[in-house]
Amino acid sequence: MKKIIAKGTAQELIDSVREYTYVETECHDECFSFNKRTYSLKPLNVPHAEPDLESVFFVDALKKYKHIPEITVEERETQIEIPEIVMEAKGLTKRFGDFVADDHIDMVLKKGEILGLLGANGAGKTTFIKMLLGLYPIDEGELWLLGKKIESYKDRLELKSKIGYVSQKFALYKDMTVRENLIYFANMHRIPTSKALKRINKLAEGLGFKEYMNYLPTELPLGINQRFSVAAAILHEPVVLFLDEPTSGVDAVARAQLWKLLHQLKQKWGISILITTHYMSEAEYCDRVVVLKQGKKIVDDTPENLHKKFPDAKSFEDIFIRFYEEG
Ligand SMILES: Nc1ncnc2c1ncn2[C@@H]1O[C@H](COP(=O)(O)OP(=O)(O)OP(=O)(O)O)[C@@H](O)[C@H]1O
Ligand SMILES: [Mg+2]
Repeated sequence: MKKIIAKGTAQELIDSVREYTYVETECHDECFSFNKRTYSLKPLNVPHAEPDLESVFFVDALKKYKHIPEITVEERETQIEIPEIVMEAKGLTKRFGDFVADDHIDMVLKKGEILGLLGANGAGKTTFIKMLLGLYPIDEGELWLLGKKIESYKDRLELKSKIGYVSQKFALYKDMTVRENLIYFANMHRIPTSKALKRINKLAEGLGFKEYMNYLPTELPLGINQRFSVAAAILHEPVVLFLDEPTSGVDAVARAQLWKLLHQLKQKWGISILITTHYMSEAEYCDRVVVLKQGKKIVDDTPENLHKKFPDAKSFEDIFIRFYEEG
């Protein structure tokens, strides 16, 4: 049954959670931290922060569940050298007949960087990722992955163990349980069974889907399903992770948890992440953002620089609308 959690103008909603919103701080009980703020049902000994609309959802979840599980990623088991530039696309182009889905795209993904690839439906985001993965042939341009120019299928095979991919459409097996799926993926990556089982258990615990191990993927809440999909994509401890709209259709709390997971992977594993989204506000959680419009790159900058360029813009939506209108 759907329930209305709050009613009123945007400002009234924001005002209604002001008393629970603080500057980010350590806390352990009936609280949740995300994006430079801590939400707490109990009074905290730090100054209040200005809430936003997403804050309304976090406070509602706290009131409902009291406890929102923390996502934790442990250190990676295998250490490997990662080059400073993980991916470089030079003039990457994909055509479907006369239609140009990606038009001479230049893009760089650096070591330990979270790069957000934004754009409206049909902008060319998925097509771009599919070229990176070799799922679509590249019609024009050059691609370098982990210091290697990609020229043949053999080049790709050698890199397979270093790349993780979460596709836009659910890509795991719907007739196998969560545990069976993860074991299957571990086998595919030739991870020895005892090691694999340990890794799977650690990920299930840290990513918060331990109690769902014997469920079918279709039986999971969407947010849990997304974290399980990420677990399958990082089981082999890749150095670069491509995620295609992992936050689409997921509620605000699960989206926040997914971003926390990605930031921990970056910090603890030094992994580089390319993530597509059409939530413009998620640009704020990235180190750098690239925006595509009808197959062309129209923005490539850090969120800080974009804020500086448009000091009067109220939000990222605002900034990108201006680029869209100009570009
Ligand atoms: N296999 C294909 N054959 C023909 N056209 C295609 C094919 N795949 C994608 N396209 C077209 O290329 C354009 C870009 O599609 P793409 O899926 O890359 O967009 P997107 O940015 O990922 O959009 P969304 O946000 O909806 O996922 C779209 O106009 C789409 O219809
Ligand atoms: Mg897409």
